[in-house]
Parts: sequence; C-alpha cells; structure tokens
Amino acid sequence: CGIVGYVGSQSALDVVMAGLKRLEYRGYDSAGVAVPADGGLAAAKKAGKLVNLEKELTERPLPAGTTGIGHTRWATHGGPTDANAHPHLDNAGRVAVVHNGIIENFAALRAELAERGHELLSETDTEAVAHLLAEEYSVTSDLAEAMRLVCRRLEGAFTLVAVHADEPDVVVGARRNSPLVVGVGEGEAFLASDVAAFIAHTRSAIELGQDQVVELRRDGVTVTGFDGRPAQVRSYHVDWDASAAEKGGYDYFMLKEIAEQPKAVADTLLGRIDAGGSLTLDEVRIPARELREIDKIVVVACGTAFHAGLIAKYAIEHWTRIPCEVELASEFRYRDPILDPRSLVIAISQSGETMDTLMALRHARDQGSKVLAICNTNGSTIPRESDAVLYTHAGPEVAVASTKAFLTQLVACYLVALYLGQVRGTKWGDEIRAVVRDLARISGEVERVLETMEPVRELARSLADKDTVLFLGRHVGYPVALEGALKLKELAYMHAEGFAAGELKHGPIALIEEDLPVVVVVPSPRGRSVLHDKIVSNIQEIRARGARTIVIAEEGDEAVVPYADHLVRIPATPVLLQPLVATVPLQVFACELATARGNEVDQPRNLAKSVTVE
Ligand code: G6P
Repeated sequence: CGIVGYVGSQSALDVVMAGLKRLEYRGYDSAGVAVPADGGLAAAKKAGKLVNLEKELTERPLPAGTTGIGHTRWATHGGPTDANAHPHLDNAGRVAVVHNGIIENFAALRAELAERGHELLSETDTEAVAHLLAEEYSVTSDLAEAMRLVCRRLEGAFTLVAVHADEPDVVVGARRNSPLVVGVGEGEAFLASDVAAFIAHTRSAIELGQDQVVELRRDGVTVTGFDGRPAQVRSYHVDWDASAAEKGGYDYFMLKEIAEQPKAVADTLLGRIDAGGSLTLDEVRIPARELREIDKIVVVACGTAFHAGLIAKYAIEHWTRIPCEVELASEFRYRDPILDPRSLVIAISQSGETMDTLMALRHARDQGSKVLAICNTNGSTIPRESDAVLYTHAGPEVAVASTKAFLTQLVACYLVALYLGQVRGTKWGDEIRAVVRDLARISGEVERVLETMEPVRELARSLADKDTVLFLGRHVGYPVALEGALKLKELAYMHAEGFAAGELKHGPIALIEEDLPVVVVVPSPRGRSVLHDKIVSNIQEIRARGARTIVIAEEGDEAVVPYADHLVRIPATPVLLQPLVATVPLQVFACELATARGNEVDQPRNLAKSVTVE
C-alpha cells in the first residue's frame, strides 16, 4: 500500500493526491483521503484506482485544509470495496487512520472493541486501530501519545498514519517493519511510504527506525520510540530528482524504464571499476579476511529479483568456486536452512521493503550469517538491516513489472561475484579481468538491442490472441526464460512458462502443438559450444512437433537460422553476461503484447510493486 501525510500551508488535498499518484504502483485496489478542517474531519474513499477517488472529490469536494493523509491500497483483509478502503474513522468521526501491513491480533482487538460498544463498519484490521486511537485520545488528548499506547498493543507489521479533528495541525505516523519516510520542507513536513511521494517538494528526508512514532508539525518533526523516549534518527538527501518519477513523454512508465536500461546499467557500474580494471566495492564493508572465509553463499529474493539470483549462482560458482544456493525468500526460513557465520546471504530487492525477503535476512542474521543486500532504494529497510549493501543505480522504478531494476541487479550480482573472485584470488584471474572489460562495454550493447526492437513489437502484436507462450533456455538462458514467462504472466495475463530446454523432453514437450509460440534463448556458440549445439537440437525437436519458434540468438550464429520461424538478434557477449542483452527483447515482447490485449501496462491486475506483507 502507499501512504502519504502532509502538514504545511499548501492545500493538503493537492499535495496528498499528487503523492498518491506517485505511489499508486504500490497498490491500486482502492484509495482514500482525510483532512481535518472546520473543527471536524472530512474523508472520502473509493474502490478502484485513484481516478475514481479524483472523480468523487470533484463531485463532492471536501473542505479545504492544510493537513491531510491519504492511502492507496493493495487489499489484504477484506476485499477492495468502498467500505474497506482507507482511511478508517472511529464512530464519532474524530480520528482517521491509514495503514499498510497486517495487524495480526486484529480479531481479538475487534472483539474487545465490539464488547465495549464500538460499531465496526468494515472487515479490516485497520478499523480497530481507529477505534483504539479514539479511546486513548479521550484519555490523553495527545495524538502522538495515543498512537504510542495503541502501537504497544499491536502485533504484526504496520505503518500507521493518523489525524485527529482536535489537532488539525498535526499528523502522526508509526512504523514497525513496514516502510515510512519523513520529508522535511520549509514550514511543511511530509510522511510517505516512499520518497517519490514528496520529491517534488523536498529532497531532505529522515529515515524512521523500527518501533518509532513521528509527530509532524509545520515547524518540525519529533520522533520517539513506542515507549515515548526520544529516538535517534538519520537525515539524508534524496538524490533522485522529481522528473525521474515522471513518464517523460512515454505512454507508460514501463516503456520509459526499458529505455533507461543502458543508463541504469552504466550508472550501476560507475565508480566500481578502477583504471587498472580492478573492482573497488568499498561499500561492501565486510572485511576481505571474512570474505575469504566464506564457504557457502545463499541468495534470497522474490519475483524478478529471484531470477537475478538464479543467474547470480552461475556467475558466483564459476568465478569464486563457492557453493551457492538460490532460494525464494518466502520459502527460506521455514525449512530451517543450514547457516553459520561462514555463510554469506545475499538479499536482492529493488524496493528494499519486500517482507518475505526481510524476514529471510533476519533469519539469516539470527543464525550468525553475514547479509549483503543488493537494493535500489536508499534508506529502505532491507539494506538498513544488512551487514553491507551494494546499491543498484536504476533510479526510481514505477511500473510494477520490473525491468531496469532487474538489469542492474544482474550487474550488481556480477560485481559481487567478480569481487569475491578477486578477493579470494581464484584461478580465473585473467577471465575476471576480461569480463570486467566486457562489462564496461555492456551498456552500449543494451542500447543496440533497444534500437532493433520494432520486429519484436510487430511479432508481439501478431500473437495477441494466443493463449499460451512457452520460453526455453539453458544455462543462464534458463532464468532468462523464467523471467520472460513471468513478464508475460504479469502483463499479458497469458499462460506462460519457462523451462530448462533440456528438461522439455522429460514432460513439458507434451504441451507442444501446432503453431504454439515457443521463445528459445540460445547460448553463445562460442566458448561453451556444446550447450549451443544441444539447444539447436531442442529447437528442432519442438519444431518437428509444430511449434512456432521465436529464436533469440547472437549475431553471427548461423546454425539456428534454418529452425527459426522468427529470429531476434542480440549482440555477442561473454556467456555469463548474456542475460543483460537477452532479457531486453522479452521485456519489450511482454509490454507490447499487454498493450495489444488492452491491458494496463504499468499497473497489472492484482499486483503491487512492493509487497510489504508476508
Ligand atoms: C513484487 C513485484 C515484483 C518484484 C517482487 C520483488 O511481487 O510485483 O515485480 O519482482 O515484488 O520485489 P523487490 O522490491 O523485493 O525486488
């Protein structure tokens, strides 16, 4: 969910609605706002996307005020209806609260409130908080104190932001696990799930820690723990500018973000390779001595970031000879994984807020393992709770389906693998130096791929009425196939599956029928050419059974030509780096297919960009 709070002298509704627009990628099942004004509290909320709320506010305007809160929701408890939308109010309509996360003891709290005569109108866990706040406020007459008292009774993960009719110049926020950042301007202050909501107004931000409550007034912010003691906070400067979070002439954020990939890749490499071709990852504050002692690496991540992890395994094991496992973050801690201080856990997350990944890294740290985060969002929870962080410099990614963040995650994974290889002095020293040189050129190769995408778009449009598309790959092409299939599921709502090409004959080949589109990611014919020959055989096997083959192959690879119904060329790269160029056509393909099918590209149904519940 996305949350915004504002206190200042501008129209709170304008600021809050603009902020919610920026955060809509975090959830778009329903939206709502509340403004304390004229001695009371005015609120509006609507199921569906933000435009529905905008319409409601035009038809039934709220009184003007300079303090306000807003919410855009990804439903957890209760379906996406008007009643379940946030904010939630107490029965007297004096306090309004918005919430992100899940309050685990909500059933007990609701029952207790009902017993005391409160009438709960929604099915949500959040509404209980509004009623509890009203009760505590009637005793304390201090919203921040009421919030602290309530938070101590809540279990689970949550961000809460509230306003009260009796304190029209105050917004109070609370945070446990779920994200919340403060923006500090001249005579105004902001609260939001993500800095994107307020960078148009201020670049000066404050990180909130775990179990903290913040009170926002025009002239400053006060942060305390849930126990009321003043808290230490860290201020930082946001280096994204406002235009980075706008579409800049593109129809969709996703198109803009696909186009930004060469820059994102170059920015992520910037300053990390010195003139002599050595890696200088100073941010990885884990001492070289400890890195040399690592005997096992586990990568944990979700969704697209998990696919980056799968590719990382090939690079890490090859260049470092350290055994590496990759696991879905949501599965990891529940199987009692074997970890100790010599294990390095790499947590990959664009947002830095994914709850599954956060819980996995906490589990790893509890076992004494070191955690290195690969993350795109400065100041987010995952890097803050890790021993070290390597930031990807993709800039803000707004489209729900990840593109540029994925490419930069790959770059970061290669950097980590190469760096570990360098620190440990493996026998691949020459190869590592050569790959570092190739990496420096890779952003130009991504650019070249982008210039040749028109036939891919045309092909996508011609397949708009298909039900199924399969993706095959081998070696690092296998995770690329998984990512291609995920993109198509997310955006085109099509049945799409990725398979290891060699595994096809053990079952999935039964799916092949006349004219079924099958995308095949072909490894380079150079280097590990055995693999290449094997996949050429796999293409023949499916084509013999009627498949329509869409072959993604390196420039100069002539062996595939006779078997390709459609051929997409990508530049030659070292084997392990191929995903950086091979993924791009698959992103373009999915984006165009989604458009052709009339789907919402930036906000696919049922999804949210950052999932802050487990
Ligand atoms: C959500 C998004 C995916 C993303 C995954 C992990 O499910 O819809 O696109 O890959 O979360 O997100 P993270 O921010 O941890 O990389």
